Amino acid sequence: MPVLRSLRERFQRDRPLAGLRIGACLQVTAETANLVATLRAGGAEPELCAANPLTTQDEVAEALGVSARRGEDFDTWVAHIREVAEWRPQITLDDGADLLTVLHQLGPEGVIGGAEETTTGLLRLRKLEADGELACPVIAVNESRTERTFNDRYGTGQSALDGIIRATNLLLAGRELVLMGYGPTGRGIAQRARGAGAVVIVCEVDPLRALEARMDGLEVMPLLEAAGRGDVFVTVTGSRGVLRAEHFERMKDGSVLANAGHFDVEIDLDALRAVADDEPREVLPLVEQYTVGGRKLNLLARGRVVNLAAGEGHPPAAMDMSFANVALAVEHLALHGAELPHRVLPVPQPIDEEIARLKLGSLGVEIDTLTPDQQDYRASWS
Ligand SMILES: NC(=O)c1ccc[n+]([C@@H]2O[C@H](COP(=O)([O-])OP(=O)(O)OC[C@H]3O[C@@H](n4cnc5c(N)ncnc54)[C@H](O)[C@@H]3O)[C@@H](O)[C@H]2O)c1
Repeated sequence: MPVLRSLRERFQRDRPLAGLRIGACLQVTAETANLVATLRAGGAEPELCAANPLTTQDEVAEALGVSARRGEDFDTWVAHIREVAEWRPQITLDDGADLLTVLHQLGPEGVIGGAEETTTGLLRLRKLEADGELACPVIAVNESRTERTFNDRYGTGQSALDGIIRATNLLLAGRELVLMGYGPTGRGIAQRARGAGAVVIVCEVDPLRALEARMDGLEVMPLLEAAGRGDVFVTVTGSRGVLRAEHFERMKDGSVLANAGHFDVEIDLDALRAVADDEPREVLPLVEQYTVGGRKLNLLARGRVVNLAAGEGHPPAAMDMSFANVALAVEHLALHGAELPHRVLPVPQPIDEEIARLKLGSLGVEIDTLTPDQQDYRASWS
């Protein structure tokens, strides 16, 4: 994670976060440990809890002295988030808005600001803002260009397929992969699945995104039609109940069902249980087999986010830029938080550019700059 490393070196010198209490509700992984080390180098006191009960890497949790454990039950998971909230962090880092929303329930006094990592979290925080209840500025790390373009497209694109392949050892070439949701994340999964030789079918509700999928050369059709075609189904919509009873009833024998969206609500598990002939069987770790009308449907990771639950999440090279955004957003909040409006705010462009420049440098890539004449030309309306 060379970008984060260079930030850590600067933070160690400048100590821009001296004494700040930072509550982080993130995936407890080795990459997050690097972020925690960077924040500590800047002088902060970070406290970490898990953003997802199934994705914690226990050895990392132990090394960091964090209570989260992989597979902890729902109540324990929520209790860990409450513990961090009750410690009264001044800055929050979220991947799904759980910590900051709990803090809003407790009373958010003293919070300087937050940074949010994922689309679903931003959706919740924008609702809070629209209700006039958002009590601090929140930096939408998820929407910076270095996060959106690279993390979602390349990071999730690769790691979601990696999770599916690790769990099933499935050969994607020649299979039909039905993808629900063609946002930046879905697009990344589609590109990679296609590269692996799968035929990709996209199901969308947004006509622009559907058109984009079609013009990217993919098949687009309603889910009810795709349900009988697919070998692998991947939801990545941020919506609830996307795969439902009427779809399960049409699926082929051997179908694989995975979710790459943030919450485990995209595949309707109650409906799956209701249409199943009997209790599911665990046929492989993280693969539960339901029999529906005699046909076997394989649910991965209980419908939880597949790249993290069945794989290792984004590779470090993708998380490097993502967490560089977080580290610089924290520094920005520490310096300017008090003056910022209580809204969901974009990552300042200079931060995005600094990260891209550092990343290019780490790859040994140099680029051109505008000449003074070009700068004049672009600055002139005439
Ligand atoms: N697994 C990961 O590591 C990872 C990484 C980034 C984002 N996410 C999560 O993935 C989800 C999608 O993220 P995004 O940034 O691409 O979001 P997005 O909102 O930009 O795109 C989602 C797309 O799904 C479509 N959609 C919504 N409901 C649908 C439905 N019922 N049927 C078909 N299409 C539907 C929307 O029209 C939209 O185009 C979110 O939950 C986000 O938090 C996960």
